[in-house]
Amino acid sequence: MRFTTVFLFILVTLLFFGDSPLPAQHILEVYVDQMGPRISPLLYGIFFEDINHAVDGGLYAELLRNGSFEHTNRREGWVIERGERARATIVSEEPLNRNNPNYLKVELEDSAVKLVNTGYDGIPLKRGEIYLLSFYTKGDFSGKLSASLVKGEEKLAETDVVFQQGIPNWQKIFLKLSPKKDVTDARLVVLLEGTGCLLLDMFSLMSEKNWHGMREDLLRMLESLRPSFVRFPGGCLVEGDSLENAYRWKETIGPVEERRSKRNLWGYHQSFGIGFYEYLLLCERLGAKPLPIFNAGMSCQVRSGTQYCPADQLDEWIQDVLDFLEFANGSVDTPWGAVRASLGHPEPFNVEYIGIGNENWGPPYHINFEKFRKAIKEKYPNVKIVFSGPPSYEGTNFRQAWKWAKENDVEIFDEHIYASPEWFLANTDRYDTYDRNGPKVLLGEYAAHTPGRKNNLQAALAEAAFMTGLERNSDVVIMASYAPLFNRVGWSQWVPDLIWFDGYRVFGTPSYYVQKIFSENRGDVVVRSTLTNEEYRVFGYRYKHLYHVVTYDQKGEELIIKVVNPWPEDKSVWIDLKGKVELTGEARIVVLTSADQLDENSFEELKVVPKENVLFGIKNPFEYTCKAFSVNVIRLKLRR
Ligand code: AHR
Repeated sequence: MRFTTVFLFILVTLLFFGDSPLPAQHILEVYVDQMGPRISPLLYGIFFEDINHAVDGGLYAELLRNGSFEHTNRREGWVIERGERARATIVSEEPLNRNNPNYLKVELEDSAVKLVNTGYDGIPLKRGEIYLLSFYTKGDFSGKLSASLVKGEEKLAETDVVFQQGIPNWQKIFLKLSPKKDVTDARLVVLLEGTGCLLLDMFSLMSEKNWHGMREDLLRMLESLRPSFVRFPGGCLVEGDSLENAYRWKETIGPVEERRSKRNLWGYHQSFGIGFYEYLLLCERLGAKPLPIFNAGMSCQVRSGTQYCPADQLDEWIQDVLDFLEFANGSVDTPWGAVRASLGHPEPFNVEYIGIGNENWGPPYHINFEKFRKAIKEKYPNVKIVFSGPPSYEGTNFRQAWKWAKENDVEIFDEHIYASPEWFLANTDRYDTYDRNGPKVLLGEYAAHTPGRKNNLQAALAEAAFMTGLERNSDVVIMASYAPLFNRVGWSQWVPDLIWFDGYRVFGTPSYYVQKIFSENRGDVVVRSTLTNEEYRVFGYRYKHLYHVVTYDQKGEELIIKVVNPWPEDKSVWIDLKGKVELTGEARIVVLTSADQLDENSFEELKVVPKENVLFGIKNPFEYTCKAFSVNVIRLKLRR
């Protein structure tokens, strides 16, 4: 309790009245003895895809760009200067390994070559932190390699290696650099001076302060969402714009230099420095169930020129999934379980859910899905398989997909909804009429797209309103995740996104805080409630004055009332708890609001963040005012 008694008194007076002097605009009746359905324990999760440099240049703590010289433009990220009698070329004659064919060949005759890498927007450095620089090298060279971290003309840290004899085989060199001040935009300068020929590959620079190669500040943002599941690694990314760059999990494990990096369909190169093993570790750290998605044997159907894997080659793709399940869950005596153990995790990850396909539809997908399912269920009958819906959330493809799913006993159907805020507000009852005995729903991707696709409060309010409907229907919608998750500012392909960051800063959008509030205040079971004067017609469209859901937290013995007011005027509600109930008088209130629905957050200013208060002396019934443009959570402590 950080507020003063005076503040408390004023708040209670303003918001709560034992007896309302004026009739409230709405009456919210909560039938505390009428509970159901149960809230799915997996309801709120996250969807992780390397789009907008979410991983490379994002969660992956690697500070250099294209340290492996494998990007489509082999010199991307590098500036290479050479003196007279010096050559620097990118070649592939004696590769580090077959997944990493390109490297830099430097030939010098009493001369110098300077290599400069600026990372993404310059390299952010913290004073006194240790940065590990590593690279592979081989050759016959006599001279010196000095590595420095430089800002403008100033050297912030420097170290060197002297080469006196030939290195016949590729060898990894490790150096440590500790900058003398904080900067946001340094560069790595590697200077080679001497005579001979040196091959160089796989430059890496990473602060020692990382967790399995991941940035702690971004991890903390994910942790504070308390996700119950992580859907990964895409998205369209799984499909590829051809089967050549479809996501293949086996290419993403083991030593980073042996992972087969490639261009992704979002147009940039992925190192897979965070691959399937790291995703599983991430799930473990977050306490979230992994939900890996696998390619269904076809490249992206939304993009032109979809490639379908020939039927007689599909077994290889199916085998990939079976091998993954052995890798994740198998005993250390199995071949893939042994690989997991060799990476440092003998305990199984216990993967229970997987998805086959992303935004796929039509007979080719149905045929493939059936084949995957048969093979997986034969070996892993308890693993639940998510069926992919099409990109549309209504219309012919969508209806046909659902028809097939129901007729073929699909367990979980993956819906994706990107729509206007108005659509979300008008469709909060979408799942009320879903068949309770049909497939469950994973709402694997959704976001409200405002004009200009702004990450503003307006979008967040529409999502919050919709989420009251998800929660109310949590017997059908068992998992939901906003999309996309991350946006590296200046490097993005898609807005809006949940979390924005650059090399050293991060902030949550209003949508982020909606996800956080809902995730932190789920409850275990829905409590029946009704609101008077609910319908709000605007130009013939049916909205609601207020969107609400009530749940009960069994452990904390609290009623959780969520009310969303997406409109520009305050609305008062008379909250009346019906049935056998006694309040302790204590309530925790969380409110997310701002003066203008167009308000956004930024690195400089968090305009839209939740504010929390604890109140005492609440009596049933009481009046509560939902401010214009607000999400409200009222947690009422019950005396049971
Ligand atoms: O979330 C961004 C993209 O939107 C996903 O990759 C894809 O599944 C959807 O079309």
